[in-house]
Amino acid sequence: MIKVEAIVREDALEDVKGALLDADIRGITVSQVMGCGTQMGRTRLVRGNKVSTTMVPKIKFEIVVSSKRWAERAIAAIRHAAYSGEPGDGKIFTYQIDRAIRIRTGEEDVEAITPAS
Ligand SMILES: Nc1ncnc2c1ncn2[C@@H]1O[C@H](COP(=O)(O)OP(=O)(O)OP(=O)(O)O)[C@@H](O)[C@H]1O
Ligand SMILES: [Mg+2]
Repeated sequence: MIKVEAIVREDALEDVKGALLDADIRGITVSQVMGCGTQMGRTRLVRGNKVSTTMVPKIKFEIVVSSKRWAERAIAAIRHAAYSGEPGDGKIFTYQIDRAIRIRTGEEDVEAITPAS
């Protein structure tokens, strides 16, 4: 099992969510996070004043899938939906996952993350 974590722009939320659902990926966690990349934030106008903000609001998606093939599908969907070509489009990280448990049924691992019977 692989976890795909993607940190994207706030305004990419709906497009990324839609792209994952269109790719038949179910089981998605979304969080509002703050972060900075290599530019260490940006400047923005607050009531007419230029203010430097180190941390910028971002959206984090977390998806656990059963195989490398599904991870590549998720990555392709996210890359396409979150791309603008400008700095700050975001980043994708992958992790190996040890264990998954569906609390209701006690199913473990791949069975726990594929549609329930
Ligand atoms: N190395 C990292 N570790 C953890 N989180 C990161 C890392 N790099 C980026 N992030 C997260 O991803 C968000 C978006 O990063 P961003 O797209 O600005 O990356 P970048 O490396 O600066 O690329 P770009 O030049 O396209 O802006 C950051 O706000 C932060 O939340
Ligand atoms: Mg950046």
